[in-house]
Amino acid sequence: MDYREVFVREYSDIVRLDRLTWIRRGYIDRSSLYRRVPMPDLFSVSGELIPLPKPRVDSASRVSVAEALLSRRSVRCFEDTPIPLDKLSTLLYLAFGVSKVEPGVYGYSRFPLRTFPSAGALQPQEVYVAVFRVEGIDPGVYRYVFHRHSLEVRARGDFGSSLVSAALDQDHVGEGNIAVAITVRWIRSSWKYGRRGYKYSLLDAGFAGENLYLASQALGLGTCAVGAFYEEDLCRILRVDCSTEIPVLLMPVGVPRSGCDY
Ligand SMILES: Cc1cc2nc3c(=O)[nH]c(=O)nc-3n(C[C@H](O)[C@H](O)[C@H](O)COP(=O)(O)O)c2cc1C
Repeated sequence: MDYREVFVREYSDIVRLDRLTWIRRGYIDRSSLYRRVPMPDLFSVSGELIPLPKPRVDSASRVSVAEALLSRRSVRCFEDTPIPLDKLSTLLYLAFGVSKVEPGVYGYSRFPLRTFPSAGALQPQEVYVAVFRVEGIDPGVYRYVFHRHSLEVRARGDFGSSLVSAALDQDHVGEGNIAVAITVRWIRSSWKYGRRGYKYSLLDAGFAGENLYLASQALGLGTCAVGAFYEEDLCRILRVDCSTEIPVLLMPVGVPRSGCDY
């Protein structure tokens, strides 16, 4: 039996939503706010900043891209020993950091480009780090401030069990050294691309997620993309407004435990 018609009928709202994002020949998006209002801020900082140590990129250079791609697996079982802060610093820098600064982009004299691609270089991705076991930094929820290579304090304390519960009781979410949450401030993409910005911002989050897989692999760590979570709970834990910032991925990262059934 061919179920295609059943799917199209049952999920007709997906078809309608997708069509809202289509590029159509000759159509001019008069609602676009591009050039009419300022670009949504990319550099906001609120709260205390903790500078991260200098990343040790050499510690990842022994693993080739080919090796990282071919050996990558989703890891759901971790050692419970702490990792050093410079490992966290290197991981965040490789996966989400600034790799180039370009003059004259969107009116900025120094516009950052990142290790992940992003539609229009608009970088709607935001990265949050729930720290469970890292030497030299207290457990808590932090936001990665990429242009300062620092962590912005959102909340102190151990959020492991809240995150596990937000992730439909998936224990591995709380068992790594950290859990990274990737959200998108979709208005950054929609500023230029209107409704298509929604599609682009989710794609952008996916690229950042794969970066985290590969950077983890290169540093002897493991991760697992987790897409099943209660949005409302996760937004509350991260202290973000779910209407302007959509959580896309939750990714525990830790040292893979051998002899463990994934
Ligand atoms: C968008 C997305 C959502 C996922 N959600 C979950 C999840 O909620 N829980 C989980 O344990 N794994 C999740 N995964 C991991 C997949 O199960 C995993 O990638 C897949 O089984 C293939 O295994 P591999 O990553 O080792 O190749 C997700 C992966 C992606 C890309």
